[in-house]
Amino acid sequence: MSTDAIVLLKQDHKEIKALFTKFQSAGENATKLKGKLVEQILEALTVHTYLENECMYPEVRKLLPAVEDDVLESYEEHHVADVLCMELAAMKPTDERFDAKTMVLIENVTHHIEEEEQEWFPKVREGLGRKPLQEMGARMIEMRKKAPRKPSQPGALKKAADAVLA
Ligand SMILES: [Fe+2]
Ligand SMILES: [Fe+2]
Repeated sequence: MSTDAIVLLKQDHKEIKALFTKFQSAGENATKLKGKLVEQILEALTVHTYLENECMYPEVRKLLPAVEDDVLESYEEHHVADVLCMELAAMKPTDERFDAKTMVLIENVTHHIEEEEQEWFPKVREGLGRKPLQEMGARMIEMRKKAPRKPSQPGALKKAADAVLA
């Protein structure tokens, strides 16, 4: 299995987008299924955002100043997603705004993933090369074991809080 950080993050993106598709194709009245899917979406996003916030983003920022603006914009996009995830975690699937809020989360994250994959991850691959990305990915595999899985867990919001308090 590859430990390339970008390969691993893109694999996460694929799984997250598959969950989005399932939510979008669930019927209007599939409340229980949609509740389950949102639970899975929140867990996948919490782990993924943690790995980017705590490993990939700060390391890339340090090693490749040319992408600093992309990294900063991405932190802000994570922050918006974090707020929506926190709100959804406190809602019931029967709440009037549950589906609408989930759709806004899906739209935001889909846009964010596209920017990562198309705009700045390619610059990171070119700028850093193979070995640093493999080492970074190996660290992410270790960090994943202890990553927060719920938006409310300590650590899940660290970088978002930093962004507000800095
Ligand atoms: Fe991200
Ligand atoms: Fe990502």
